[in-house]
Amino acid sequence: MEYQDLIVKAMKAKEFAYAPYSHFRVGAALLTKSGRIYTGCNVENASFSATNCAERTAVFTAVAQGEQEFTAIAVNGDNGNYLPPCGICRQVLAEFCDLKTFQVILANSEQDYRVVTLAELLPGAFQSKDFVVNGTT
Ligand code: THU
Repeated sequence: MEYQDLIVKAMKAKEFAYAPYSHFRVGAALLTKSGRIYTGCNVENASFSATNCAERTAVFTAVAQGEQEFTAIAVNGDNGNYLPPCGICRQVLAEFCDLKTFQVILANSEQDYRVVTLAELLPGAFQSKDFVVNGTT
């Protein structure tokens, strides 16, 4: 997998961020098992809690296009450092990704990035296998 390609796409997606409240832009680029890339940016709202992070925008966009299997995501924020995905985004990624192999590329720039697995970011994640309805699995 080309980390650079994913990072460049995350940085470009950041340009579309709608962040009039925080002025903090974030971009993400999500790689599917089939090799396609879906991007996302943060989309804020006057009712702050309605804000959607860049990572979730990318996941929801991909799922809406029929993709459900992902292998990596690159994230780039305006912090001039590695931007760790928020807890809600980690949980959303855990729904569709293999914790041990899914790679999260925390990209400060094309040359400066850190790669961690989703398992490292969200150990012991609650997933569908842990979900029980009316005593059945
Ligand atoms: N944000 C993201 O897009 N992704 C993250 O993982 C962390 C936070 C956005 C949400 C909000 O628009 C802004 O950054 C400040 O929290």
